[in-house]
Amino acid sequence: MEKMSSKKTKVDIMGNGVLPRRTLDLYAMNAGDGPRSYVQNSSYQRGAVDIAKPIIEEEIARKLDIKHRSSTSPNGFWVADFGCSTGHNSFPAMQIITRAIYRKHASSGLITSQIPEVFVLFNDVITNDFNTLFTSLPPRRRYTAIRLPGDFHSRLLPESSLHFAYSSWALQWLTQVPKEVAERDSPAWNNRAILYTRDRKEVCDAYLNQYAKDIEAFMEARAVEMVSGGLMAILVPAVPAFWNPETEYTIPSDLNLLGSCLVDMAKTGKFSEAKVDSFNLPFYFTTPEQLKAILERSHSFTLERLEILNNPGKYTLPSVNARAAFYRAVLEGLLTDHFGSDIIDELFTLYMEKLAALPVFLNPDKDKSTVILAVLKRRSE
Ligand SMILES: C[S@@+](CC[C@H](N)C(=O)[O-])C[C@H]1O[C@@H](n2cnc3c(N)ncnc32)[C@H](O)[C@@H]1O
Repeated sequence: MEKMSSKKTKVDIMGNGVLPRRTLDLYAMNAGDGPRSYVQNSSYQRGAVDIAKPIIEEEIARKLDIKHRSSTSPNGFWVADFGCSTGHNSFPAMQIITRAIYRKHASSGLITSQIPEVFVLFNDVITNDFNTLFTSLPPRRRYTAIRLPGDFHSRLLPESSLHFAYSSWALQWLTQVPKEVAERDSPAWNNRAILYTRDRKEVCDAYLNQYAKDIEAFMEARAVEMVSGGLMAILVPAVPAFWNPETEYTIPSDLNLLGSCLVDMAKTGKFSEAKVDSFNLPFYFTTPEQLKAILERSHSFTLERLEILNNPGKYTLPSVNARAAFYRAVLEGLLTDHFGSDIIDELFTLYMEKLAALPVFLNPDKDKSTVILAVLKRRSE
């Protein structure tokens, strides 16, 4: 039951303001399991999920506090994946998380019949393709799966009900493009670029501020929802503080290469240059230092572990076609909404041509993007 306010801002069931419906709608990954789908084009992300699994398993064994009961079902153990998309990268993570939870209960002396039933809540935006997720659930699983649509920056669950929160490759999505970046008379106006570039400090600062606000909103919502002693594991794409743009690249620099294709298309009259000026991506790729500072400001969680993972997934995009398909599966909704669907094929063809002419982008060893795994524990009140 959702009401629309006069400003067309959605109000959720708990009365919290959430994102305008339009913005969130565009965030869903390409649906289904066909050649353009996120399912088929997210091995890059999967690499990081796979190397994070044993670390998460170890943290659950060492630190998860299982004595606190969920307010909603005292005999249930509740896990949620925030930003799960169509699930195929989520299922392997949920498999090890639920297995580790069972082992933790068993090692505390409980016999099988005393171990609580595990419920996994799969969260994403309402336009996410939950049908693909639910039709591909692993048949052999130790949990009951539940759909949880909505904006993860606001409250989605009852107070003190959740034991384990997980999120991978989702917290780089901002609730909005920072306003000043889109304002022509602002020093942070981002002009022709579609994402911040390191030489524009005002733009970088505007993006970082928005990112910090959004991560804090996510943490505040989870702080209310989680039981004392509950654990949270987040996998967040990142960049190092220093890397050489002449000889190396990162996801943001690659996205700016895609942006340069939009500028080229505008120059040939496909659409106006103003159309490119008014398009900015709602993403921020943090450095480890920035994320650590944000997480450590929390009064509700302690930062238990922070690992910088060198993502093996970067070796899974063997060709310009694969790299273009990877970005297309993520960005098609946003691009189509702003530029129309007619330009998408041409845009990615141009992007592939540029990639082919820039060998550095085709060398995965030069991809300096990393992924941060942060494990946090809900403080006891
Ligand atoms: C790149 S996908 C990651 C999917 C999966 N977790 C993985 O590791 O492959 C990011 C997902 O986050 C979702 N997302 C972004 N912002 C969100 C928000 N505010 N609330 C809920 N989901 C969000 C997107 O819809 C998308 O499905």
